[in-house]
Amino acid sequence: MQFKPQFGEVKGNIARAFALIERKSADLWVLPELFSTGYLFASRSDLLELAEPVPEGRTTRALLEFARDRGTFLVAGLAERDGAKVYNSAVVAGPGGFIGRYRKLHLFGKEKVWFDPGDLPLEPFLLDRVKIGVMICFDHFFPEVARTLSLRGAQLICHPANLVLPGMGQLSMRVRAMENRVFTVTANRIGEEARGGEVLRFTGESQVVTPDGAVLSRASRDREEAKAVEVELERALDKRITRYNDLFADRRPDFYVLWA
Ligand code: ACM
Repeated sequence: MQFKPQFGEVKGNIARAFALIERKSADLWVLPELFSTGYLFASRSDLLELAEPVPEGRTTRALLEFARDRGTFLVAGLAERDGAKVYNSAVVAGPGGFIGRYRKLHLFGKEKVWFDPGDLPLEPFLLDRVKIGVMICFDHFFPEVARTLSLRGAQLICHPANLVLPGMGQLSMRVRAMENRVFTVTANRIGEEARGGEVLRFTGESQVVTPDGAVLSRASRDREEAKAVEVELERALDKRITRYNDLFADRRPDFYVLWA
């Protein structure tokens, strides 16, 4: 799903996001990064006012209610407050309740001023019988993130995003899908945000990518949209690309720089 949140209008953003997805049915919806607050904070204290505890806060409670009422899973980005810390997080909600959270590891630009960096392991979540990984926006520049999630069994990687560098995240998520033979779902936002003398333009083109790196579905650059596509997640369990090559078995970690 992609849309344009209004900065600070948490209640209205949640309502508008749900209005877009409730007309269609899907087993899993992915919503953008920071979907309930908007992105361009003026300061850390600006962010602290809007960040919410997880799972007690308004946004997570709304996601849990939607998931329960509609019998669906949701992955959605939000600003998480935990004591004095504040994270750029994504919540995983399901019909049976709260499943987990991911806290963005690689902060982009001024996020380094506003947020604390993520501190949770890259561990996929088990939804029914399927393992789902979560990463957020700029994490796409770090292939280790998708690799770690995939080596740990993720068949599909959910990627809530607020992408601003045209085409880059859309391109690298195709490569992340191809090199790990997993599905990826990037839920980007659209529109422009102008606050505190800064302007950001978000690039839309949310997409679902197959383990071959093919784009199965891509949204527009500038319209609010929700699309549902069917995927065969078992495909992501097979890492072979030729009779002789299995992308995971063929790795040569002895030669890689793991800590530098
Ligand atoms: C980004 O990480 N929101 C560009």
